[in-house]
Amino acid sequence: MRFDRIWRHATLATLAPQRPGMGLIESAALAVANGRIAFAGPMSELPAAARAPEQIDLGGRLVTPGLIDCHTHIVFGGERSAEFELRLAGADYASIARAGGGILSTVRATRAAADETLLITATERLQALMDEGVTTVEIKSGYGLDVPTELRMLRVARFLGRRLPLGVVTTLLAAHTLPPDTDRAAYLSEITGELIPRASAERLADAVDGFCEHIAFTATEIRAVFQAARAHGLPVKLHADQLSDGGGAALAAEFDALSADHLEWTGEAGVAAMARAGTVAVLLPGAFHYLRERRIPPVAALRRAGVPLALATDCNPGTAPVLSLLTVMNLAAVQFGLSVEETVAGVTREAARALGRLSDIGTLEVGKRADLAIWNVDRPAELVYWLGRNPLQGRIWGGR
Ligand code: NIG
Ligand code: FE
Repeated sequence: MRFDRIWRHATLATLAPQRPGMGLIESAALAVANGRIAFAGPMSELPAAARAPEQIDLGGRLVTPGLIDCHTHIVFGGERSAEFELRLAGADYASIARAGGGILSTVRATRAAADETLLITATERLQALMDEGVTTVEIKSGYGLDVPTELRMLRVARFLGRRLPLGVVTTLLAAHTLPPDTDRAAYLSEITGELIPRASAERLADAVDGFCEHIAFTATEIRAVFQAARAHGLPVKLHADQLSDGGGAALAAEFDALSADHLEWTGEAGVAAMARAGTVAVLLPGAFHYLRERRIPPVAALRRAGVPLALATDCNPGTAPVLSLLTVMNLAAVQFGLSVEETVAGVTREAARALGRLSDIGTLEVGKRADLAIWNVDRPAELVYWLGRNPLQGRIWGGR
């Protein structure tokens, strides 16, 4: 029995759904062949005839699935530290946005940025995530807000996926906010009549997202965007109920969304609708932290209803200049009350589910891509416990 590589004496957090908790296996082995997991289980069950040109003894170290950041806006021009200073001095996010700052200031910087600049800056940010064991990342457009720049952002994201040892999943977020000096109806028909069809035909987007909020788009407008996405075979997701309860979670569920994200203001009806639709709740404690929100997402209700919980950085220049998924795990535990098991599942199995990629990534199971994070810790809780310690010892993407 020949494999390409075998790791022995590992503690595996498999996250396999048929095992309880994190699916921990001590004194475990993991073998890969052709970039896929070919064995993951107790060393005692590894066939005696197992051979590989490369065999590594992990001395009991923890191995998890490679981490997945399932919600980012990591491709953008400029930065917004000046706006951060204004907020520190008392200005609030929504009024900065209404005054033409916020998302629109990043739109100006992104439109003006050369492709090369977008690539270099995004690469640097992605490297920080990868240095903490991230092997798949979702990247949204949404700072172009016109046909050429939205498509350009998606092309940059696709190019990053080809250039870096990293899985990249792309999302069209043209419905992020209304572009300056533009008629609402005209922009919406540009999204539904041109951007979605082109993003789909040119295979630039894997999903369509929107921002349903009083400073962005109404539920009726998002519904039109989602109908176009559906007509072009693209799954949807939504920035829902972040600043107010606009019925975003229920709207997402109505379209069988992969995920509804943020959810600070989601009520019981939204939670129930998500449970029925199998929509994943993506919690974004980085944005919660930066906006000094007080109201936490309805975690207990989501749990009771059996809604899967995922976590992400939401990396963006406004509400979440966050380049550490480990920090997000800590914030989710301390601020939102998630357990260690929920935070680890939230950046692996449930993040994969939120991207519609659970059959390929997110757990350590035979047949899945061999995307692994090897940690210099004995207990999974240590990944959540520290702030500012990066215990990553090795990162394996597609078996290497
Ligand atoms: O996820 N909520 C809307 N979009 C981003 C913020 C984008 C920005 O401020 O640039 C978010 O928080
Ligand atoms: Fe976001």
